[in-house]
Order: sequence, then C-alpha cells, then structure tokens
Amino acid sequence: MDTRPLGRSGLSVSHVGWGTVKLGRNTAVKFPEAFALPSDAEARSIVHNMIDLGITLIDTAPAYGLAEERLGDAILGCRDELVLCTKVGETFKDGVSHHDFSAKAVRESLEESLRRLRTDHVDVLLVHADDDDLALQDGTDLVQTLQRLRDEGKTRSIGFSGKTTEAAEAALGWADVLMCAYTMEDRSHEAVIKAAGAAGVGVLLKKVLGSGHLPAAEALQFVLNNAPIASSVASVVIGSLNSTRMEANVAIAQR
Ligand SMILES: NC(=O)c1ccc[n+]([C@@H]2O[C@H](COP(=O)([O-])OP(=O)(O)OC[C@H]3O[C@@H](n4cnc5c(N)ncnc54)[C@H](OP(=O)(O)O)[C@@H]3O)[C@@H](O)[C@H]2O)c1
Repeated sequence: MDTRPLGRSGLSVSHVGWGTVKLGRNTAVKFPEAFALPSDAEARSIVHNMIDLGITLIDTAPAYGLAEERLGDAILGCRDELVLCTKVGETFKDGVSHHDFSAKAVRESLEESLRRLRTDHVDVLLVHADDDDLALQDGTDLVQTLQRLRDEGKTRSIGFSGKTTEAAEAALGWADVLMCAYTMEDRSHEAVIKAAGAAGVGVLLKKVLGSGHLPAAEALQFVLNNAPIASSVASVVIGSLNSTRMEANVAIAQR
C-alpha cells in the first residue's frame, strides 16, 4: 500500500490505517450492530490479516478494552515494521469511561500501554480527550508532560484526538499529529485539517465511515477524493474486524 509522511514527524504511515476499538471492546460503542468480541486466537489472526493487507499504522488506546494486550501479543516479531499509535487520558472500566490528564496518570497510562503492547516506545501518543477538550490543553501541564515523554524516547511523536474544532485548532500550536473526525456528512474539521497540512502536522482521520452508519464505499471515496483535505491527510484510520471489508477499503484507496 502507498505510504505517506505523517507531517514532519519523520514517520511514514499506510494511507489506510486500522483502528482497533472492536478488537477489545463491545460495550458503550456506537456501531450499527451489536457484535461479539473475537477470541484470543481470532484476534491474533485478524491482526495478521490486517498487516498482510499492507496496513502499517495501527491505532489503539487503553480505553479499547482488551485491544492493546491483544495487539501486543499478535505483533511480537513484527513490531518494528509498524507505526503504533495509542492514547492517554481515558480508561474504560465496568462499562464507564474515566478521564485523568494529570502528569502522574498520563505517565502511568503510557507505561501500562508499553507493557501491554510489549514495546519500549510507541510511535504516536495522542491525548484521548473528553468533551472539555479545549480546557484540558490550557493552563494544565498536559502538553509539557507529553513533550517530556517524547524527549525521553517513550514516544516518537505526540498529538491530539478530540471533539471540537476549537480544540483541534489549539492543538496545532504543539502537536506533531492531529486525529480528527471527518465524513461526507460532517465536514466541520475541514479548515483545521487544511491548516494542519500547511503547518506540517500529520493528520489521521477517524470515523470516516460514520462508525459504520454511512455507505462504506461512498463514504470512503468522498474522504479520499475530497480535494480540500486530500493532500493534508496522511492516513484514514478505519475500524474493522473483517479483513475482506478492509481489503475492499484498501482497494478503494489504491485506485
Ligand atoms: N476519540 C478517539 O480518539 C477516537 C474516537 C473514535 C474512533 N477512533 C479511532 O478511529 C477508528 C475508526 O473509527 P470507528 O471504528 O468508530 O468508525 P469507522 O471506521 O467509521 O467505522 C467502523 C465500522 O465500519 C464497518 N466497516 C468497515 N469497513 C467496511 C466496509 N468496507 N463495508 C461495510 N462496513 C465496513 C466496521 O464493521 P466490520 O468490523 O464489520 O468491518 C465497523 O463497524 C477507531 O477504531 C479508533 O481507532 C478514535
């Protein structure tokens, strides 16, 4: 698959990335249909199938239940060929999300992620923001903490995955990478995506299929071919447990 530079981070990522929510969590999610989590063996095979499609960017998070642990198990032996993106700030326990962006919680969260992913560093570390996504960047030591973790080599790049356009704009002041939602039905982040591209901030798109509520082929084509943002986007991160569907997604991106 084609790879693209992730802004000025020095990383290169597959144009289609893979999101791992469904690998480890099936409660308090917004997919159109309920689904069973794969078994450990099925999870391992799904990870390998996705990598075999040429996907090198894998997005995960502590809040995705078993996802990090399953990923760590499956990628032993090929971790260095992958760009691993995880997050800090949100955990998910007993069906409820908890947020903590303090320096202590952020450090501990990354250490736990490294242990589960069986690696000594991640490639991208994003803030997993809550609804108050502007306030948590302002007047707190969150950005400094992330910068220190990058200086210490525990992550190669830092960034932000939030909700509002205002927070995404604020993140352009410090982030190497910006993850944001963009779909054929919600283009509200268009200007900030363009600005990120111009500023050398790597852009990862999330929820491009509307978490499965949009017609997949049409929704993906719209995002990939949308001239105002196409050149700014490094990777379109799609969630799936189905490698046949992902193969179709990759084929659309390769056209
Ligand atoms: N706050 C955050 O940082 C945040 C929030 C949301 C998402 N994300 C990241 O972005 C990723 C993607 O978001 P998402 O998973 O919510 O939504 P999405 O990628 O828009 O949609 C995923 C859904 O689309 C289905 N799908 C995939 N390819 C398909 C195809 N060719 N035809 C029909 N259906 C298809 C998947 O089902 P199958 O399993 O059946 O393929 C899945 O149910 C997440 O996995 C996560 O890594 C981050």
